[in-house]
Amino acid sequence: MYDKVTESARYIGNKVTNFKPEIAVILGSGLGDLVNVLEDKEYIDYKDIPNFPQSTVEGHEGRLVFGRIKGIDVLAMQGRFHYYEGYTMKEVTYPVYVMQQLGIKKLIVTNACGGINTSFNPGTLMLIKDFINLFGTNPLIGVNDQRFGPRFPDMSEPYKLELIDKAKTLADELGIEYKEGIYAGFMGPYYETAAEIVSIGRQGADAVGMSTVPETIAANYLGIDVLGIACITNMATGIQKHKHSHERVVATAKKVSADLCTWVAKIIENIE
Ligand code: HPA
Repeated sequence: MYDKVTESARYIGNKVTNFKPEIAVILGSGLGDLVNVLEDKEYIDYKDIPNFPQSTVEGHEGRLVFGRIKGIDVLAMQGRFHYYEGYTMKEVTYPVYVMQQLGIKKLIVTNACGGINTSFNPGTLMLIKDFINLFGTNPLIGVNDQRFGPRFPDMSEPYKLELIDKAKTLADELGIEYKEGIYAGFMGPYYETAAEIVSIGRQGADAVGMSTVPETIAANYLGIDVLGIACITNMATGIQKHKHSHERVVATAKKVSADLCTWVAKIIENIE
């Protein structure tokens, strides 16, 4: 895998020569607007990158976007890979491995998810404090290649406290409201049952979604600091009265997207 990742990173590095980002952002469903804030953009479609997995899900574009915010180089992933699409965990997290070789030091992950904590509403932005991995697997299973990271990585600060503190200070300055909570990663692709939500809530989760956890695990393993911001697009099954709809999830994400973009842009400006 190391050689494959190197080949992918080399292709990207040769194509985009005037950017050297140390910060990357993964944009969740309906949260792609951040790229509009980026200046001097350059795009690379996933399909053109050797060894890169291909995107299939609705609402996800499938390309890397290089750009700048206030002179700071940024790499944005527009479209991520989900385990429920049938990718292996290694494929889901492949871009994060490539990021390591591109020199990324900090990763901001965003997502759309369901609220379990009843003090949340659709539209709430939640800083992720910690995760619960309910995928039943993870991307680090298998023979370890020390060139990537350690066999037994520490996971005591999956979302870097320093970044969380900075994000909070900046949100207060901007007047952006946010909550904090624990994100549970569920395999999907079905929205959880009501009984599963009760169970996941008892385990300590404030929100549940189908992404983010694999990328967070890989990034921590690879020595990349992570900040996670979840957009509560709906209340989880059994808490909200109506049935779920992907269209509604994306519509709600789009509504909060402006605040999220402002916030993430400000974090990027102040991170280094
Ligand atoms: N559950 C899981 N994933 C989700 C949800 C949800 O309620 N909303 C958006 N993504």
